[in-house]
Amino acid sequence: MSMNITDKFGRPLQDLRISVTDRCNFRCTYCMPKEIFGKDYPFLPKSHLLSFEEIERIARAFVNLGVKKIRLTGGEPLLRRDLPGLIQKLSAIEGLGDIGLTTNATLLEKMAESLKAAGLKRINVSLDALDNNLFQSINESGISTERVLQGIDKAVEVGLEVKVNMVVKKGMNEQEIVPMARYFKNRGITLRYIEFMDVGKTNGWDFSKVVSKKEIYHQLSQHFELKPVESAYIGEVAKRYRYAGTSTEVGFITSVTESFCSTCTRARIAADGMMYTCLFATKGFDFRELLRSDISDEEIERAIISIWNKRTDRYSDERTEETVRNKDRIEMSYIGG
Ligand code: GTP
Ligand code: 5AD
Ligand code: SF4
Ligand code: SF4
Repeated sequence: MSMNITDKFGRPLQDLRISVTDRCNFRCTYCMPKEIFGKDYPFLPKSHLLSFEEIERIARAFVNLGVKKIRLTGGEPLLRRDLPGLIQKLSAIEGLGDIGLTTNATLLEKMAESLKAAGLKRINVSLDALDNNLFQSINESGISTERVLQGIDKAVEVGLEVKVNMVVKKGMNEQEIVPMARYFKNRGITLRYIEFMDVGKTNGWDFSKVVSKKEIYHQLSQHFELKPVESAYIGEVAKRYRYAGTSTEVGFITSVTESFCSTCTRARIAADGMMYTCLFATKGFDFRELLRSDISDEEIERAIISIWNKRTDRYSDERTEETVRNKDRIEMSYIGG
């Protein structure tokens, strides 16, 4: 089958983000607000989740078409039973260079070793504050900063490459920008600041709540000297800098103020097997139904090619007050970030 599949704007299909569950043990106010994601929230039933065999099959199809990088997400992916078992299956796929995982780290201390042994290379840990009271008021689950930091330490100890993601939202955690930088700089761990995005329709987003890269950079530059780092490959999400005189990096994910759609090479599969070609998509393509029919591997690949060839998504490039109001977007916890 031909490689280097491109979309309407010539963007190749290179990365795949697979969400393995829409559930999470956190209720971050900007992602799964407690009032909405309560006891009665209709999470996906087990029968709607792709099995590990189904995930492996679709992942193989994507790798055959040129995907080099797979990232597992959720919800919280470590809540999915036997996740190392899935990683082991994916690690065996020839041609797949990189497997990553995005997690809130609460189960990492327990699982880091088995994840590493299964073939995981890299993890990105979400942590929005060092101050424990503030962190708990954001995650609304009673889980402490200490637990997350211990998870990170364990991951480093077993040899996983670790980065930390911090969503910055006005009035929520700006005071943590510099303490977080200092803490992770001292440990040689890359911290990335993420501009608060208008994903989903339950998180009360508006432009006034975004803390821009420019504002964060300005704060950092009062304390540290930063040197820009060339991006490592086309389609890299973060703008990277290095603390002068060290090899430690800090990054910014600027979906709102400096969009990066023109180099977006990412496809997404939600936990129920729907494929999306943008984080802000409103329409998906049902691969669960296809996988559960008697379709051949070639036909699966042809379906992916046909979808990618028609792709025109560039939501962040086109974001206006109007698109923010009008879009019927799907939730972050479902599509996996
Ligand atoms: P690396 O492979 O380590 O660079 O991972 P990553 O940064 O692509 O993944 P991660 O799950 O850590 O995501 C960090 C942030 O970037 C999250 O808030 C994601 O929602 C956001 N993000 C990732 N890909 C995209 C994208 O294609 N578009 C937008 N708008 N945001 C994205
Ligand atoms: N805007 C920006 N980032 C978000 N995340 C979750 N919701 C949002 C949002 N509305 C982050 C998480 C995690 C990553 C996958 O996405 O904190 O680090
Ligand atoms: Fe928080 Fe991530 Fe869970 Fe969303 S999926 S509630 S951002 S830990
Ligand atoms: Fe890609 Fe959509 Fe994000 Fe733009 S908004 S970078 S097209 S996922």
